[in-house]
Parts: sequence; C-alpha cells; structure tokens
Amino acid sequence: MFKVLVADKMAEEGLKVLRDHALFEVDVKLKLSPEELVACIADYDVLLVRSDTKATAAVIEAGKKLKVIGRAGVGLDNVDLDAATRRGIIVMNTPGGNTIATAEQTMTLILGLSRCLVPAASSLAEGKWDRSSFKGTELYGKTIGIIGLGRIGTEVAKRCASFGMTVIGNDPYIDEERAKRIGVTPATLEAIYQTADYITVHTPKTAETLNLIGEKELAMMKKSVRLINCARGGIINEEALAKALQEGKVAGAAVDVYTKEPPEPTNPLLKAPNCLCAPHLGASTTEAQVNVAIEVCEQVVDALTGKGVRNAANIPYVDPDLLETMTPYLRLAEKMGLLASQIKRGAPQKITATFSGPVADLEVKSLTSAIMVGIFQPHLEYSINMVNAPVIAKERGVQITEQKSTDTRDYADLIQLTLCTSDGDVSLDGTVFAKNDARIVRIDGYHVDARPYGQMVLLRNKDLPGVIGSVGAILGKHNINISDMTLGRIDRGGEAVTVLNVDEVVPEEALKDIGKIPSVLKVQQLRLS
Ligand code: NAD
Ligand code: MLT
Repeated sequence: MFKVLVADKMAEEGLKVLRDHALFEVDVKLKLSPEELVACIADYDVLLVRSDTKATAAVIEAGKKLKVIGRAGVGLDNVDLDAATRRGIIVMNTPGGNTIATAEQTMTLILGLSRCLVPAASSLAEGKWDRSSFKGTELYGKTIGIIGLGRIGTEVAKRCASFGMTVIGNDPYIDEERAKRIGVTPATLEAIYQTADYITVHTPKTAETLNLIGEKELAMMKKSVRLINCARGGIINEEALAKALQEGKVAGAAVDVYTKEPPEPTNPLLKAPNCLCAPHLGASTTEAQVNVAIEVCEQVVDALTGKGVRNAANIPYVDPDLLETMTPYLRLAEKMGLLASQIKRGAPQKITATFSGPVADLEVKSLTSAIMVGIFQPHLEYSINMVNAPVIAKERGVQITEQKSTDTRDYADLIQLTLCTSDGDVSLDGTVFAKNDARIVRIDGYHVDARPYGQMVLLRNKDLPGVIGSVGAILGKHNINISDMTLGRIDRGGEAVTVLNVDEVVPEEALKDIGKIPSVLKVQQLRLS
C-alpha cells in the first residue's frame, strides 16, 4: 500500500485515479505550514503539490519513505530537486496539461493590456462614462518577440500569427528550422529588443534566464513596447520593469508571476502605471486543472507499479513501449554491478560500461545507472536507485565511461563492465538469453555461463583434477546444496574460475575449509537478490 499526501488543491477527477486503485491510499491536507508538513511527511510514499507547497530539503529529509514527488503543473521551482535526487526520490511534473491554458492567459494579457481593459472596466464601475482615456492599440500588423519557443511559446506564436502579427522569436535550444515550421522567424535577443512591439517570455527560470530582461535590455526597446511575463517571476527584473513603466520608457506590461508569491504589497509592479497584474492564473482553467491532476496521478500509479516513469525531472526517460524490452537488461546491469562490487570490495574509482548489439540501441543511460545502483548498494546505508546513483557517483568522484561497440564477442548482445576500485579491477560480460535469462558469460576474461541470482560462491583455482569434488564434499558436510555450477579456464592446467549457485548462505567455517584446498587460490561468497 502506498500512502499519498495531497498538499495542494487538486481536481477530484485526478485523485479518483488513486482512490480507485487498491494499492493507493490518499490523504488531502491543504494549507499545511512548513513545520506541519515536515511533521507529517514521514508517513507518506508520495507527495503531490501544485505551486503553493514547498518541497524543501527539510521536507525531503523528513520524508524517509518518500518515493515520488508529483507536481501537478510545469514549474519545479517549489521542489528542491537536488535534495530529492540525492535521496533517490523521483520528481515528476505534467508538462503538457496546462499549455493551452497558459497560452490563452498570455493572449488574454496581451489583449487586455492593448485595450486598457482593466482600467476601463474599473472606471465604468466607478460610474464614469469615459470613452476618450482608453484608446488601445491593435495587434494586427505589429511584431511580437517570443523568448522561449517550447510548448507555451509555440502555442502563443500560433495565436499571434492568427491575429496578423509578425512573429519573431529566440530559443537557442531549438532548431531554427523548427522555429520556422511553427511560423516564427528566428531573431537575436538584441533584434527582438530593438524591433518588437510586444515581447513575451516563455522560458523556464534558470540561472541563465533570471533577470534576462533588466535595465540595459529595457533601454534598448521601443517606447511603445509592451512586455508580458506569464512564465516565472524574475525573468523580467521586477524593479527595472517598474522603473521603466514609471519613467514611460515602455508603454505597458502584463505580469502573471512574481519573484515571491504571493508578492509583497510593496512589490513595485503592483502599483506601476499601465501594468496589468494577475495572481498567477496561467493554469487556472477547469480543463487545465483536470488535465494536470489526472496526468500526475496516472504517472504516480505507473511509476510505483512498475509501468514506467514519465516526465521525471531527475531520471532518464524510458519509453513505456521500450520498458518491457529494457527490464531484463536493467536487472542484468544491476546484478553485474552488484557482483563486481563484491568481487572487488575497494572504493569504486572508475566504471566503464560498454554496450554492443541490440542492447546498445536501448536507453543505455538507464542501464549505466542500473550498473551504478548495483555497485554502490553494498557501500551505502541509505537506499540507492537509478535517481540518485549518478549523483552519488559524481559526489564520490567516480569516473563513468559509457560506450557502444559493435563487437558482441559471438553473443547476440553484450553488456561489458569494468570496475576499477582501490582494491584492483574486475571485468564482467553479461547477456540475456531468450529475452529474460540473464547470464554472466565472462569474469576477468574467463568464459563462464553463470546465473546471477541468490547465494553464490566464486573460486579462483588451479585447473587440476579433484577441486570440484573437494568443494562439493565440504559444502555437503555443511548441508549446502549446489544448484548450478560453471567453470572457465584459459589454458589447461592453468588458472580457472568456478562459480557455484548454492541454496543457503555458506558458513564462514566452510569457506575457510574450501580456502584450505591446495588448488583453491581464493574463495568468495557473493550475494545477489
Ligand atoms: P518548455 O520547456 O516547453 O519551453 C521552454 C523553452 O524555453 C524551451 O524550448 C527552452 O529551449 C527555452 N529556453 C530555455 N532557456 C532559454 C533561454 N535562455 N533563452 C531562450 N529560450 C530558452 O516549457 P513550457 O511548458 O512552455 O513553460 C514555459 C514557462 O511557463 C515555464 O517557466 C513554466 O514554469 C511557465 N508556466 C507558467 C504557468 C502560469 O501559470 N503562468 C503555467 C505553466 C507554465
Ligand atoms: C505551472 O508551472 O504549471 C504553473 O505555474 C501553474 C501552477 O502553478 O500550477
């Protein structure tokens, strides 16, 4: 049973997805103070939020059972992503569900601003009939500069084009051809600042976009320009924008989002002339709220019932259609990591993962993460998964090399792992037979055919007669049954590797006795799940 805490108001249609599922139990607790949230989060596996609740490092630290933080919406600036990632918590959002609502809100703001809608309505409500003070401007024939041509920027571009506007835009991370396909003429930021009549920002808030438009940029703009921020507070610097409005250096602005929400009453934009301020209503439509609530709840169910993780901000995306094919390889990769780190128990220093054959066409980043999970598991007290494994590797200075090769060494496909540790190196080759049968096919170059499961014993021995008999006798004396065995040598009479699967944990005493057999060079007990 997974316990879900819904901390912000969410559409019932979405919560029903969880309530109807036998494995989920839902508690709705709205408007918790940060202290109250920290105090109760330990009971929950899932935290669902919109933008009001802050999933801070303290909340994440207290959420010992947390597995998923789901954001019904796009922006993740209320979730401490680094803290969640370090703890192995999946953070997911619902990127598409409120795109149309926010694009329409942007158009509402552009039109409302252009036609002085709010002051005109207020004036009428005050009993005036003033038809001369609220002369607007048309969108037709004007130029709009769109900064950020992702989901919302694209929808805004389409709508502006239908108003007969010239649409120019800037997004260094999308292909110029794509910009052209959506009807946007690519332009530099400088060109947008100098020529646009409207400028609207639709980027995420990042180190690069914070204060993207400040005093210097505002000074480059036409006096008639109108600016819109329906993305995140601070992308257009609030003080600089308020000052430019006060000084008549820009004609107007419309703002849906603020650096601090709710904004302090002293926020200069709230009283600035020709500034239309909305209380973060971009996604506030019935349709969008139903969309994001259903999406986030379905994603949570899928993630926790093994049907795949979608829209996670801290885990590589695996196409759900690919997941079925990937699963045996993910298991093999984790087991290879676990085996390698038990064969060489020193501190991991370098991990090289090579993928050949059809497995190389899968999502290899996830497979490398699964290898890391296996490698770090025996070293750490806290839980490790594919979310935090790459972070832990980075924090510990472990060098990761991921490569693809065409050399499958006679297997249909192959995962090769070399682990370098402070205690020496080990290399393993693994493959999957018949879609689901994971095998280790080489250990340090010795050809074997080992099934990586349960309790195992690894021997380095001289290739001489009688070794296996002696080992079997010792295990028999301790009532340990051998369920599988494989051995590999390179030269007759030289060194060999023997791998046994056994039904029980082998007692220390038995391992010592095996170690005393003259032709046994080394014996190790290995445990796989
Ligand atoms: P998206 O990820 O689809 O698009 C963002 C685009 O910005 C991407 O194409 C990216 O390449 C581009 N970008 C990133 N850095 C850039 C830079 N320095 N210069 C130019 N372009 C840059 O996101 P989206 O769903 O379109 O959301 C856009 C913004 O709207 C986000 O900030 C999101 O949080 C916000 N949002 C606000 C509301 C609201 O209620 N007001 C609702 C939903 C989303
Ligand atoms: C978002 O990021 O999705 C929007 O800002 C809307 C919201 O806060 O829910």
